Amino acid sequence: MDLYEYQAKDLFAAHGVPVLPGSVADNPADARAIAEQLGQTVVVKAQVKTGGRGKAGGVKLAENPDETQTKANAILGLDIKGHVVRRVLVTPASDIAEEYYFSFLLDRANRTFLAMASVEGGMDIEEVAATKPEALAKVPVDAIKGVDEAKAKEIVEAANFPAEVRDQVAEVIVKLWETFVAEDATLVEVNPLVRDPQDKIIALDGKVTLDDNAAFRHPEHADLVDIQAEDPLEAKAKAKGLNYVKLDGQVGIIGNGAGLVMSTLDVVAYAGERHNGVKPANFLDIGGGASAEVMANGLDIILNDPDVRSVFVNVFGGITACDAVANGIVKALEILGDEATKPLVVRLDGNNVEEGRRILADANHPLVTVVDTMDNAADKAAELAAAGV
Ligand SMILES: Nc1ncnc2c1ncn2[C@@H]1O[C@H](COP(=O)(O)OP(=O)(O)OP(=O)(O)O)[C@@H](O)[C@H]1O
Ligand SMILES: [Mg+2]
Repeated sequence: MDLYEYQAKDLFAAHGVPVLPGSVADNPADARAIAEQLGQTVVVKAQVKTGGRGKAGGVKLAENPDETQTKANAILGLDIKGHVVRRVLVTPASDIAEEYYFSFLLDRANRTFLAMASVEGGMDIEEVAATKPEALAKVPVDAIKGVDEAKAKEIVEAANFPAEVRDQVAEVIVKLWETFVAEDATLVEVNPLVRDPQDKIIALDGKVTLDDNAAFRHPEHADLVDIQAEDPLEAKAKAKGLNYVKLDGQVGIIGNGAGLVMSTLDVVAYAGERHNGVKPANFLDIGGGASAEVMANGLDIILNDPDVRSVFVNVFGGITACDAVANGIVKALEILGDEATKPLVVRLDGNNVEEGRRILADANHPLVTVVDTMDNAADKAAELAAAGV
């Protein structure tokens, strides 16, 4: 889960990383009130989970409460790379002597953690990385050893931070590592990390990605979820423990096993080229134990997607054999009753396949078509979706 800047900075503050105070507002009048309370020049910052806010006009200076209200009004509702701004952070304007870049991230390719630091921070770190790679220090961090003062000094030296602030930056780096570990993050990024005219180091921006696989260790992180911004079907699927990702096509997909579902998406996309360009509407892996209830939950999610025109259920019977899956489908359709309105193409293979097909044939449900091979089933599902468009 990606966090908003204000949430990231709340975590920073909790771990002793220096940040500026501030509050979020979802309307211009509240933004004005925050500026009044801060009683100084402020910066109004769009809270969206994408980069490049400054360049898109989402970060603006305001000298007084009136101006804060006007700037907030201009920023709220702005579309930044497809993200509509619903909240702004109002925070004191800082005098900036220098802008640096710092991040910790999970370096999957090298199976390690990585610290990245540059004294050429600010808005365009991607450009620095592309055009002046030597200005961006990359220091691997051993997961077991972590980052202590000595390691932080190594990073600070690799990036060539100015002597006057080295100790302070090293201290902040240790605290950012503590944040990274304690919160189970896969990314902690500060751009810019600034040096003010009094040589104080402050995290002016913050980007944090939390590892969803560690959510069970952090019940407190549940409060950070922005329910409004979540896709309602994805939220419902998550609540039911389903592995569901909404896509933008018309053929609903249910399969067991992530690999099978991935290849199902491929064959449906391919078949769609012959049928009006229809595409998969989602990824949904119902896993190994496809009980009737899980199947009903999965079908319920997919059939409630208004974009879906047909559904392809692609199951390879293993530990849960095809007859159990077939019974699951029949029961699921019973549970859903009138809610099931879209055609289903079912392809079963594997353990007990004959019995599974017999069960579906006996049930003789008007919405269900059983097709023997994956390619033919994908073709049928795409054809039905195209007919429904
Ligand atoms: N509190 C502040 N006081 C003064 N200047 C600020 C403040 N916050 C941000 N700025 C200036 O605005 C620039 C952009 O801000 P910020 O880094 O938060 O957004 P961004 O980099 O455009 O967005 P993103 O990090 O999402 O790409 C900073 O580099 C800094 O120069
Ligand atoms: Mg930034």
